[in-house]
Amino acid sequence: MEITLEAPLDMHLHLRDGDMLKLVAPLSADFAGAVIMPNLVPPITEPGGMVAYGERIREAMGETDFTRYMTLFFTKQTEQQLEQAMGTPGFFGYKLYPAGITTNSEGGVANLKEAESTLKMMEERGIPLLVHGESHGFVMDREAEFLSVYRTLAETFPRLRICMEHITTAAALELLDTYENLCATVTLQHLIITLDDVAGGALRPHLFCKPIAKRPGDRDALLQAALNGHPRLMFGSDSAPHPRCNKEACGCAAGVFTAPLALPKLAEIFAAHGAADKLQDFVSGNACRIHGLTPSAKTITLHDKPMQVPAVYRSYGQQVVPMYAGEEISWSIRN
Ligand code: NCD
Ligand code: ZN
Repeated sequence: MEITLEAPLDMHLHLRDGDMLKLVAPLSADFAGAVIMPNLVPPITEPGGMVAYGERIREAMGETDFTRYMTLFFTKQTEQQLEQAMGTPGFFGYKLYPAGITTNSEGGVANLKEAESTLKMMEERGIPLLVHGESHGFVMDREAEFLSVYRTLAETFPRLRICMEHITTAAALELLDTYENLCATVTLQHLIITLDDVAGGALRPHLFCKPIAKRPGDRDALLQAALNGHPRLMFGSDSAPHPRCNKEACGCAAGVFTAPLALPKLAEIFAAHGAADKLQDFVSGNACRIHGLTPSAKTITLHDKPMQVPAVYRSYGQQVVPMYAGEEISWSIRN
């Protein structure tokens, strides 16, 4: 069996910088493009830094045609800064992090009330707002506690396109269905694992990410929504590589590295559930329609021939361990 995908997109990707960027960028090259997260150290807040980072990504990617949808770290930008960003080629939107909520987000927003004038201007200009939606509460409740913030944002700014990034709960899906101006991304791992896979037996650091994987009912609801072709749910891997020594450590960094196996694993899941015909919209069609994107032409064919996932990806002095390290996935990319 085969599935052919036109212009698959990863709507939430961490590519890092320096040697790590050189290692991981080519591993996303089967995608036609991706929304690139700005949480470098320091974060990308200015169009100049964004353009320079985009160039480093282009170099690291190699020959392939890959559309970079660049984001800026939201810092209550002024009107002039918004105008400047909009006039910069490659700019896609702003990523809002509550201060200190995840990797390199210390400079995020502490009080959303103070951000309202910027959000209003974004609404007027059609600039999307991408949100890491977690509170500072108990780890399992952080997303649920943030839903009231999404609700307020969706009601206060009814024309602002708000993307709930990496949703992990059935409750988030319910909210998504309540407001037309909300859309959402979901990762590969949150369609598959629960907290039990992370911490139910021996602790598995390579499955630890933020938001943390939740309950079986949440995972099942997300998977069903994806398989049923939810029109406002998009694939965003949140592939977040960390050096192996920072994952297999006392104080494990948050992030699951899935970029090189995401498309084969998605094909395996969608085919196993008889939903192969829904994969195109999940990995591209919904995003193109919602955001009006026209990515580089790229056709990828997947087939039900196994892929062996490497135990570790290694080069430029970097080592990163992927999800399913050393295991087999029953689908692969047909070259
Ligand atoms: C991401 C990272 O490492 O940059 N980590 C993660 O667990 N998802 C940041 C993020 O998206 O929260
Ligand atoms: Zn992320």
